Amino acid sequence: MGFKIAVAGATGNVGREMLNILSERGFPADEVVALASARSQGTEVSFGDKTLKVKNLENYDFSDTDICLMSAGGAVSLKYSPKIGQQGCVVIDNSSAWRYDSEVPLIVPEVNPDAISLFTKKNIIANPNCSTAQLVVALKPLHDYAKIKRVVVSTYQSVSGAGKDGMDELFNQTRAVFVADPIESKKFTKRIAFNVIPHIDVFMEDGYTKEEWKVLAETKKMLDPKIKVTCTAVRVPVFIGHSESVNIEFENEITADEARDILREAPGCLVVDKHENGGYVTPYECAGEDATYISRIREDATVENGLNIWVVSDNLRKGAALNAIQIAELLINRGLIRAKKQAA
Ligand SMILES: NC(=O)c1ccc[n+]([C@@H]2O[C@H](COP(=O)([O-])OP(=O)(O)OC[C@H]3O[C@@H](n4cnc5c(N)ncnc54)[C@H](OP(=O)(O)O)[C@@H]3O)[C@@H](O)[C@H]2O)c1
Repeated sequence: MGFKIAVAGATGNVGREMLNILSERGFPADEVVALASARSQGTEVSFGDKTLKVKNLENYDFSDTDICLMSAGGAVSLKYSPKIGQQGCVVIDNSSAWRYDSEVPLIVPEVNPDAISLFTKKNIIANPNCSTAQLVVALKPLHDYAKIKRVVVSTYQSVSGAGKDGMDELFNQTRAVFVADPIESKKFTKRIAFNVIPHIDVFMEDGYTKEEWKVLAETKKMLDPKIKVTCTAVRVPVFIGHSESVNIEFENEITADEARDILREAPGCLVVDKHENGGYVTPYECAGEDATYISRIREDATVENGLNIWVVSDNLRKGAALNAIQIAELLINRGLIRAKKQAA
């Protein structure tokens, strides 16, 4: 007997990717239910070669559902996740609503799988921010080898990170440029077509944005609270795939060759690093892929033990849907949950 899984936010960018990945990986589910707002009730979403009729999250009863993959935004998660958890259904949440709660584990399975046991406190597990997920997958094996002291990250984040409205805005603005229509900006604060915007999420008191703060808070929570992290988060006119330029300072010696060998063996990482034209990965090529790609591995001669790397991944997959499903697999593989139907 398999599991009953609900995908809340099934009509969104991340929710649709979750349905694709559940089907691709042959997830051990007997039943998959698609949930969204009242606006989408009765519409259909694809699940493998089938379609699912979307149900309304508001009046859905979770008492016989085992896992809810939640990707409907922070406000929705704050409202529904505790109630779902109380019905004995484990919520794996993609928003930032629970990530910093000391009773909620924040998990990237390649990085801190053992922290998952904390989930029983609230029956909620948090998935990190898309930029953090790919960053920690690359940092973890390097930290284990040479102990990271400080990280400086500049992100180049695709518009799909801002949901389906973000993708529509880039598409519509690009078309408007070519047909000389007026450019409308609703989702982003400035025009995104043929531009870059150094602003993601709200501004905080110290002048950083919340997106930049998330990268440091989440890296510390998952990898090591002693690591110093500073970040500049930038939106770029790319549909799918986040890129990061990462400067890392280590306590111990590590060469570029050693880093390349370590990352080649590391779970979730794929090294593409040839010193020739095109010998690196760009976001266009990582869309639809599971790996975190690492290119441009160089020593930084301006500090004692320093490296520069270029990290690229599909933000809708490792940055969101794939990581959430890997967390669900971790729960099942470690025997931390049993299918309710089987248990009954
Ligand atoms: N995109 C990324 O790279 C990424 C990465 C990590 C985390 N996340 C997080 O994942 C979540 C979803 O992101 P997304 O990019 O998929 O957004 P999206 O494309 O805008 O989709 C939002 C989804 O939430 C649903 N929803 C909205 N209000 C709802 C309500 N009151 N009740 C039930 N469902 C509701 C929408 O349903 P309707 O169609 O019915 O409105 C839709 O299915 C967000 O919390 C986001 O921060 C996204």
